[in-house]
Amino acid sequence: MLVIRHLSHNFGRHWTLKNISFSLNKGDFLFLSGPSGAGKTTLLKLLYAALPVQRGQVQLAGFNLNALDYATVPMLRRQVSVVFQDFKILPDHNVYENVALPLEVRGLPRAAIDRRVHAVCRGLGLENRIFTACGSLSGGEQQRVAVARAVVVNPQVLLADEPTGNLDPDLSQRLMDLFMQFHAHGTTVILATHSREIAARNPSAKMLRLENGMITWANWPEAVTFKDADSIPAWGEVGLPNHLEI
Ligand SMILES: Nc1ncnc2c1ncn2[C@@H]1O[C@H](COP(=O)(O)OP(=O)(O)OP(=O)(O)O)[C@@H](O)[C@H]1O
Ligand SMILES: [Mg+2]
Repeated sequence: MLVIRHLSHNFGRHWTLKNISFSLNKGDFLFLSGPSGAGKTTLLKLLYAALPVQRGQVQLAGFNLNALDYATVPMLRRQVSVVFQDFKILPDHNVYENVALPLEVRGLPRAAIDRRVHAVCRGLGLENRIFTACGSLSGGEQQRVAVARAVVVNPQVLLADEPTGNLDPDLSQRLMDLFMQFHAHGTTVILATHSREIAARNPSAKMLRLENGMITWANWPEAVTFKDADSIPAWGEVGLPNHLEI
């Protein structure tokens, strides 16, 4: 499902990811942990093709991310949903419109869109906010809209960047239950979190810790740990990043 080999990424002269290698099977649940600035968001953005692969190889959901072009990026994103750390929801549109958007893009019939939007919003406790403009929601409510929009399409792969960051313990548990339900139905989930508590509550999941752009710990043997500074590519071996707009 996911194969990453010798992935490195730089912003200017700073290496944010340094020689990352690991793979996941279909249906795996991975907690990505690590301190602020470790590279978690950068890794998720690479997997969503919001950043180009500069160095190394990445295959995800049958796509070779080294050979993506503007025509195949939307195809990848039909399989891979993301909850961004900063939500990226449309503030002038209401909850219903935000959550329905990816279903409308897929051309689903109105009745099916209606059913799925209401079901997902119910599951996330957003029912009584469904026709409220997202710009006037609380941070935790906006975060749940971002989650609803990501899961409403039943993705093969779900990437979530600190999805419980703004939630109280109850809501955060409810959200984890929802992710676990998707996982139980075969969705591959990668969840970045600072919270040891959340990860500790799900001991059967795979866990990987990033520090300063490197894998420093993982709880399964196939994850490769590189600590060797020599394995970091020298500056000049890669070009300047060519950012794709998301
Ligand atoms: N667009 C960018 N331009 C320059 N540097 C960047 C950019 N995005 C990230 N970085 C740098 O890359 C490093 C890793 O950032 P990243 O956002 O991936 O960390 P993170 O693990 O997600 O942190 P947090 O837990 O705070 O969200 C940081 O040093 C950050 O400053
Ligand atoms: Mg981050």
